[in-house]
Amino acid sequence: MTHVVKSGIQRTEYASPVPAAPVSNPWMFFRRWLANPLQMGSLIPSSRALCRRVVQQARRAADEIVIELGAGTGVISRALLDSGIPPERLYVVEIVPDMAAHLRRVLPGVNVIEGDALCLKDLIPAQFHGRVGTVICGVPMVLLPLSVQQQFVDVIESVAPGRGFLHFSYCATSPLPSSKLGMRGKREAWTPLNFPPASVWRYTPR
Ligand SMILES: C[S@@+](CC[C@H](N)C(=O)[O-])C[C@H]1O[C@@H](n2cnc3c(N)ncnc32)[C@H](O)[C@@H]1O
Repeated sequence: MTHVVKSGIQRTEYASPVPAAPVSNPWMFFRRWLANPLQMGSLIPSSRALCRRVVQQARRAADEIVIELGAGTGVISRALLDSGIPPERLYVVEIVPDMAAHLRRVLPGVNVIEGDALCLKDLIPAQFHGRVGTVICGVPMVLLPLSVQQQFVDVIESVAPGRGFLHFSYCATSPLPSSKLGMRGKREAWTPLNFPPASVWRYTPR
């Protein structure tokens, strides 16, 4: 929106709508995988089928937010918006600066936070602690040592007490050692229409 003053008359011009930029950006994703395969955990963004299955498991009351950790190029974030989650109620955290910048471009109105999801407690405004409907963790936790997995579990618990989190994985069995982490794991969905085929797990505190 621009304010223009001409001959003493002030009028407001609205920018013509900019077509939504493509979200997926597989090339950016692949380049990041080449740079840091363990941090990315996947060669390409999640497929539509996987995004749909994740979104189907997400729950939120009207006054709650949804948090996505490791948003990548934003395919799940976009699917969450398409399912009706208002952009201002979606918080996405991404550690890679280029990807966070991309997310800001393609997800107008969404709260994009560039940072380490392990610092979640400091990244999410205190007013929403305890008002989180769902946390979706896209960070490839299976590749992390148990002590770091536990840190993720603990920091999620600090902002979303009792809620646990959704996690997608390409493993045939639970990607996390649930009982060692004090969690209960349940496979909620599976799709062969992803590369590689993937499951959606829900982990809740015991
Ligand atoms: C498997 S990709 C998932 C991307 C996207 N959610 C999707 O489904 O296509 C994992 C993402 O987690 C991000 N990531 C890894 N460690 C992170 C951390 N500690 N904090 C925030 N993001 C992280 C990576 O940069 C990458 O974008």
